[in-house]
Amino acid sequence: MRRIDVQLDERTYPIHIGAGCMSDEHLFKPHLTGNQVAVISNETVAPLYLDELLKALGGVSVDVFTLPDGEQHKTLDSYAAIMDFLLAKRHNRSTTLVALGGGVVGDIAGFVAATFQRGVGFIQVPTTLLAQVDSAVGGKTAVNHPAGKNMIGAFYQPRCVIADSSVFATLPEREYRAGFAEVLKYGVIADLEFFDWIEQAADRLLNKDPDALARAVGRSCEIKADVVASDEREVGLRAILNFGHTFGHAIETLTNYRTYLHGEAVAIGMVMAADLSVRMGFLALSAAQRIKTVLRSFGLPVCPPPELSDDAMHQAMGMDKKVVDGKLRLVLAEAIGRVIVSEEIDSSALRSTLNAADTLCDG
Ligand code: NAD
Ligand code: GLY
Repeated sequence: MRRIDVQLDERTYPIHIGAGCMSDEHLFKPHLTGNQVAVISNETVAPLYLDELLKALGGVSVDVFTLPDGEQHKTLDSYAAIMDFLLAKRHNRSTTLVALGGGVVGDIAGFVAATFQRGVGFIQVPTTLLAQVDSAVGGKTAVNHPAGKNMIGAFYQPRCVIADSSVFATLPEREYRAGFAEVLKYGVIADLEFFDWIEQAADRLLNKDPDALARAVGRSCEIKADVVASDEREVGLRAILNFGHTFGHAIETLTNYRTYLHGEAVAIGMVMAADLSVRMGFLALSAAQRIKTVLRSFGLPVCPPPELSDDAMHQAMGMDKKVVDGKLRLVLAEAIGRVIVSEEIDSSALRSTLNAADTLCDG
């Protein structure tokens, strides 16, 4: 079992990582303030892991709210339904919410926790790889609006994250692989040695080797924890976590969130961000090739959909939340392990990247 702290002064919280940690009541106890708990889960994850979680929460009164599965339910309607449930069950300011599920459940439950009676205790029990290395850590919570994804939300940190790697046994293979796009992202933005190791350990990771997984999740969480500790509200440095994401979000939007999982769109986005970095003279071509090759080794897509025009992509990228005062701000790689955030984007290089589907798919 490993523990990593997200250092935020009096809001500092632990991330516990390891197989079986969801069953350890000692990890939950210090973070349960009152005698009421509400578990928020969904119809897929609850039948698999709720009993195990309830045992670890033994001794307190627990109510369970089960959402339907899917991103289409990450809405204000679901948020309101959970609020109605908590009020009907007479939860008060000392209640603790526990999110049991992937990023969708975690994001909605976190936003409820941020706003129910002006904020109550919150524990994340992430059950996808993406949620363990990304969405459960760092305090971004949100629901979607028809005008855009994650448009309504709050920064609200959990009191604890319990990342149990045994849950990957039931996670669909495609979801599992998609999580590695974010794991690889941490190598690209901050740690060449980690990137080198992931390249070597791809088979072990795909076979869910426990030691390899503990290292992959642990180092990813460490890097995210460091970035969040130095820029919780994304005033500056935290933007580096978005490497590949502005391209990826545009691809997700233009394909109506139907074709790619988030991690898959991010994988393509990272290849495009690396390509732009090469075209703008920041990154060696060989480094961009390496990023593409290792993403491929995890079975992730690396080709931008050729049917998406550069105009449509450009416009969709302009809708991203990372656009400031009308200026496109992108994360560019200078080397594997080192990135910069730039508003000085060479527009002809960007057009070339957006038109490079053919070359990006080769090799
Ligand atoms: P998800 O929550 O939709 O989970 C993927 C699928 O796997 C779902 O069908 C889910 O029911 C199922 N599932 C989850 N755990 C399982 C398990 N152990 N066994 C079997 N099935 C399981 O998707 P996700 O990729 O975890 O999260 C995506 C969401 O996260 C998006 O809404 C995205 O906006 C959000 N996100 C948030 C942040 C953040 O910082 N808050 C960062 C990245 C992504
Ligand atoms: N997923 C990006 C962030 O947490 O800032």
